[in-house]
Amino acid sequence: MRRTGIFLLSLVVMALNSTAREMVTLRKGWEFHRGDIANIDLKADRSTGWESVSVPHDWAIDQPFDMSNDLQTVQVIQDGETHPTLKTGRTGGLPYMGIGWYRRSFDVRPGKMATLVFDGAMSEAKVWVNGHKVGEWPYGYASFHFDVTPYLNPDGRDNVVMVRLENLPFSSRWYPGAGLYRNVHLLTTDSLYVPVWGVHITTPYVKDDFATVRIRTLVNAVSPTHGVRVDTEIINPNGISSGRMSGIVSHIDSTGCVEQNIEVSSPALWSPESPCLYTAVTRVYDTGGYLCDSVTTRFGIRTIEVIPHRGFYLNGHHRKFKGVCNHHDLGPLGAAVNRNALRHQLEMLKEMGCDAVRTSHNMPDPQLVELCDEMGFMMMIEPFDEWEIAKCRNGYHRFWDEWAERDMVEMLRHYRNNPSVVMWSVGNEVPTQCSEDGAAMAAWLRDICHREDPTRPVTAGMDQVACTLENGFAAALDMPGLNYRTHKYHEAYDMLPQRVVLGSETASAVSSRGVYKWPVEISGNATYPDHQSNAYEVESCAWANIPEVDFALADDFPWTMGQFVWTGFDYLGEPSPYNTDAWPSHSSLFGIIDLASIPKDRYWLYRSQWRKDDHTLYVAPHWTHPGREGKITPVIAYTDFNEGELWINGVSMGRCRKLSAVEADSAVAAGDSLALIRRYRLVWDYVVYTPGEIRVVAYDDDGRAAMEQTVRTADTPYALSLSSSQAELTANADADRPLAYITVSVVDRDGNFCPDDSRLVEFEVKGQGRFRAAANGDPTSLDPLQEPRMHLFSGRCTAIIEGINADDADNPSGVVTVTAIASGLRKATLNIPIR
Ligand code: GAL
Repeated sequence: MRRTGIFLLSLVVMALNSTAREMVTLRKGWEFHRGDIANIDLKADRSTGWESVSVPHDWAIDQPFDMSNDLQTVQVIQDGETHPTLKTGRTGGLPYMGIGWYRRSFDVRPGKMATLVFDGAMSEAKVWVNGHKVGEWPYGYASFHFDVTPYLNPDGRDNVVMVRLENLPFSSRWYPGAGLYRNVHLLTTDSLYVPVWGVHITTPYVKDDFATVRIRTLVNAVSPTHGVRVDTEIINPNGISSGRMSGIVSHIDSTGCVEQNIEVSSPALWSPESPCLYTAVTRVYDTGGYLCDSVTTRFGIRTIEVIPHRGFYLNGHHRKFKGVCNHHDLGPLGAAVNRNALRHQLEMLKEMGCDAVRTSHNMPDPQLVELCDEMGFMMMIEPFDEWEIAKCRNGYHRFWDEWAERDMVEMLRHYRNNPSVVMWSVGNEVPTQCSEDGAAMAAWLRDICHREDPTRPVTAGMDQVACTLENGFAAALDMPGLNYRTHKYHEAYDMLPQRVVLGSETASAVSSRGVYKWPVEISGNATYPDHQSNAYEVESCAWANIPEVDFALADDFPWTMGQFVWTGFDYLGEPSPYNTDAWPSHSSLFGIIDLASIPKDRYWLYRSQWRKDDHTLYVAPHWTHPGREGKITPVIAYTDFNEGELWINGVSMGRCRKLSAVEADSAVAAGDSLALIRRYRLVWDYVVYTPGEIRVVAYDDDGRAAMEQTVRTADTPYALSLSSSQAELTANADADRPLAYITVSVVDRDGNFCPDDSRLVEFEVKGQGRFRAAANGDPTSLDPLQEPRMHLFSGRCTAIIEGINADDADNPSGVVTVTAIASGLRKATLNIPIR
């Protein structure tokens, strides 16, 4: 009896084992070698020079900044340059170039299929398993996967994966990061399985009372699949089964897919305001009825339409994109992806009223797409910054002929089930726009998108608008995307058959948090000896414009589709307008939020226009300007209210009302240089600086006082003060550790913010947490980003703290204690509980 029981139990265990699809993220246990290695007899190689790392890993971000790193002498044609110039800090001044190797061992249960999935590897990845080359993938932003089953050891144990990466200099226009900067996963399945990205879900019919969910499932098998059964069940956002269907693989179509159509009643629609997610569970049974694979796919039910003259509709409702473009780096964390850092960025953008993200100019990390699904952001996913014509000497054009279609297809299959993705962009400002083949190539890429995903419109970011309107390039897109060139919007609308214009990239306003400059003038390409741009938010690059121009286009013309602002966050590299021979500038000034994740004043401008469910009032500048006594010092209120009143030291400076569109236009025509901003901000440009207190009261349209804010002149700096993005942290063993962004500020004895302090702050982290990185938002700061000290910039800086688990902590106190210390100031301590 006992033996029979054990036998039955083993059968159950075997059955369970055989059904198990396992996806394990290979985070720990990697070794990294900077530079090339002599041989790839991987097991034998015990040479020195390998260090233990965990992945995601960016090999350059903890290195010192140095002007000599990737110093580029180039002519940036798209910026209007007529000859090559010395570009300092173009890629961030960090040593991302060169060769790096990674290796790790892994086990696979005998008899299983094994696939290695790379979310991205920077770059020119070549992969070996147990000394056999399994494949290569050059593009550093692409996700890719290799079936490594044939190369496994017979007992499945102690397999070694080796990855060689190489970054050439002159290969990027911004900091690309370096290494295995995204996750690597090991997928093991039975020999009858659904391959990676093998499920394709669409919702062809969406009505109030029902939706049809179409699931197409690709089934792979070592032996013939005739008679194999595929069951799909739909689970609604509340976790309740909402329909299922069974299909036999003999009904497979010519593409090798099983198609199922399941009706869901009263569908809960996905939108940024209500990001409802459904799940499809696909189960594959062999001819003997054994469950061999089970795949879960998240999707959403929603409709998208682009209607001539009227723009974009989501679920039948018209809306304009309130979007931002972002590069992939996470400021001081570098390119090494971190889900909690991505979430932190999205939370800040959501609070601002942003509802869309463009992954400029590359494929995103999959976690960003998952978070956009969950948190409610519409996405434009964009793969390329260049096609076959170079922007960078060693850029993607080297791979174009062989890889462009493969990269596109993988991207499209990867993200075609994600409801957040509402459009594809096929490229950004590609020089091919104006070439003879430009229109045909745009059409070719568009058709690849439509073939793989017939549900989403295709756009591209065009900067050479004059030629793309003439040569058919713009007409080849479902939605013509204009980068800047606001003066061309009307012409594009008039000429193009689509009769809509998308602001695929807008603004490129520049500013430095807390650095105010006088006189306050709207200007393109202003530069100053301190390498900062005006915090009054009136400056942009020469080819670009201040945010008000885009607000007006969105407000005044129904056929404009809204915008993607360049950029939501500052990033490493491209320090325009200080990009030419301007070291130590090495990070951008474009961000609405700086590199330290601290909002610039522009944040409140966008919030005042984009948040329709909450009021905004933010008064600038700070009111501590020693030496400016008696000088004109304009005060600005960023607010959704149309009227406000300013008091300085209790004396009214008068009421101010925003201009109407017509008033603004005629004031601009009459030479009022600030009229453009008076439509969207309250501006008192005649007041003089007197230390003390400024107070702005905002009035609603009935003339009632609705909100107010007071800003006071600071006394002598007295203490540091800390605030955390998180009141508590939730520890998690497998996923990225929880992060708290701690903002350090200097205050006087009364708690008034001291906006000029720039002293050095040291960080001590004790208990259940560790220091990860710091930044101050100063694009010229050469402080290393991953050491526990940072200079303040405009009175503030940020430390990023990681919570660690009780199991890992020497002293599992349940609390992480962060102390900030600066000479001459009272130190500050913050305790953050870890759950
Ligand atoms: C655009 C370009 C972006 C960035 C921006 C700066 O033309 O698409 O990548 O360079 O200019 O203003």
